[in-house]
This record gives sequence, C-alpha cells and structure tokens, in this order.
Amino acid sequence: MAERQARVESALSTALPDTSHAPQRLHDAMRYAVLGGGKRVRPLLAFAAGELTRADADRVAQAAIAVEMIHAYSLVHDDLPAMDNDVLRRGKPTVHVEFDEATALLVGDALQSMAFEVLAQPGLADDAATQLRMLGILAAASGSRGMAGGQAIDLDSVGRPLELPQLEFMHILKTGALIRASVNLGALCGRHDETAMHKLDHYAKCVGLAFQVVDDVLDADASTATLGKTAGKDAAANKPTYVSLLGLARARELADDLRADAHAALAGFGSEADRLRQLADYIVRREF
Ligand code: IPE
Ligand code: IPE
Ligand code: MG
Ligand code: MG
Ligand code: MG
Repeated sequence: MAERQARVESALSTALPDTSHAPQRLHDAMRYAVLGGGKRVRPLLAFAAGELTRADADRVAQAAIAVEMIHAYSLVHDDLPAMDNDVLRRGKPTVHVEFDEATALLVGDALQSMAFEVLAQPGLADDAATQLRMLGILAAASGSRGMAGGQAIDLDSVGRPLELPQLEFMHILKTGALIRASVNLGALCGRHDETAMHKLDHYAKCVGLAFQVVDDVLDADASTATLGKTAGKDAAANKPTYVSLLGLARARELADDLRADAHAALAGFGSEADRLRQLADYIVRREF
C-alpha cells in the first residue's frame, strides 16, 4: 500500500500545475487540497483491479489520479459552509479556511476538469473506444446520478430521517459511485472481458456502500485526532446515517456483510484478485 500511495502522490504532484505558474494562489490551493494526505483508497482499488487485468501500471496510475482528483474536489466542496461546514480535513484546515470560499469553489471546478484532462490523455486503454468508455464512466460517477446527486440528497435529508432504502440510495450515489468507477477504470486499462467486468462491478458496489457505512460508523465512534476530520459531525448536524438509523453495532454488522458479499463476488477469481480481497477487508476494518 505504501509503495502505491507514494506512486500516486508523485503522479498527482507531476500532473498538478506548479505553484510558480499563474494563477499561483489557485494552483497553490489545488496542491494543498490534493497532496500530502488521504488514504488514496480509490487509486488503490484502481491498481488492484488493474492487477487483475494485467494492466500497465503507468496507465492505471493516470486513471487512478483522475478519480482521486474528483474525490479531492468533492471533499473541498463537501467541507464548504454551504455544505457540511467543516474546518478540518486530512489533519489540516479545510481549503476555504486556509484560503477562502471562492478559492475553494474554484479548486473544485479546476480539479474536476483536470481529472478529465488526465483521463483523456491518449493511450490509457488498448483502443480509443475503451478509453471513451472510461471517460463516460467517470463523468456519470461524478454527476447528478453519481457523487453530486448523492450530495444533493444528503443536504436535502438533514433533519429528515430516511428509510433504509433511501439511505442506501444516497450512500451508493455519494460515495459508492466513485469507488465503483475506480475499480472499473483500473480494470479497463488492461485486458478485460465482460464476465470479469461484471463480477468486478458487483464487488465494487459492495465495497462502495461499505465504505460510506464505515465512514458513518467512524464519525460516531472515532476521535478527531485519529480521523483528521471533526468527529461527531453527523449527529451534530442531524444527518441521517447508518448509525442514526441502525445504531453502531448493526451498522458494523452490515459493513461486514457487505465485505462478505464483496468476497463472494470475487469467488471465480484466483490469487490475481487477492489485492482486491485485501482492500475489501481494509475498507471495512480500517480505523480512520
Ligand atoms: C471521505 O473519503 C469522504 C467519503 C466519501 C466517505 P476518504 O475516507 O476516502 O477520505 P481521504 O481521501 O482518505 O481523506
Ligand atoms: C461525503 O460524505 C461524501 C462526498 C462525496 C465527499 P461525508 O460528508 O460523510 O464525508 P466526510 O465525513 O466529511 O469525509
Ligand atoms: Mg457530506
Ligand atoms: Mg462531510
Ligand atoms: Mg462522513
């Protein structure tokens, strides 16, 4: 993991504009938002899926950083006063606190377009049709039927208890969609067949939902120091979460059921899927 995380850090640093280039403050804020923090779970999933399809690691790194840029943008906007109003992210002041709100908006805008610029570099898949499919996957996962749509439901549900199916829908969109995209993009960089893609997609749906269930659990059950973001925010902001709906113990159980489902989805693969198996375990058992 450490080796892959270092590789992601270096690829992101190379792709992001240098702070010596104008507009310097925006570039400084973009680098602040993306570099030097985060677990890089989405890139790790892309690498693991790429390992299964024997993809070229340089290709996967580009697809992986494209997803991470969308993710970093989503965090910058998620923390804004108009959304979750958070002051701490990845152990540092949030972008709008360190810079200002307008800069935080622009950081998100610019990271989102940069993600597609990176993913549109020629040669990330064996043929142009596959690469166009990859662009379509990332676009759909980021938009109103993906992350942005999930965020809209999240904001709309403050103080309004949701039923389990609605909560699941929100989580699948706001967090699951990008995780699903990470796995699909990593696999599409290599030699894939549609049967394998189908199994991988099923795996990714399970870990994507599990990821946000665990995020809800940790918000309620871990410390600010451990998380690097303010703990207890969901209850304080009256957000519907798996913890508010099911309680901690059942939310944890559900995450573990999803982990088992993720493993079951990979049952037809051999050791080439071990990294994906390990990541499913890590996502559910992580402490931050
Ligand atoms: C936090 O994501 C926001 C969610 C989508 C749950 P991560 O837990 O992956 O955050 P970083 O990237 O490691 O900071
Ligand atoms: C955010 O969910 C999901 C995103 C799309 C960014 P949260 O609001 O729970 O994420 P954290 O807890 O602030 O990281
Ligand atoms: Mg939020
Ligand atoms: Mg938040
Ligand atoms: Mg959260």
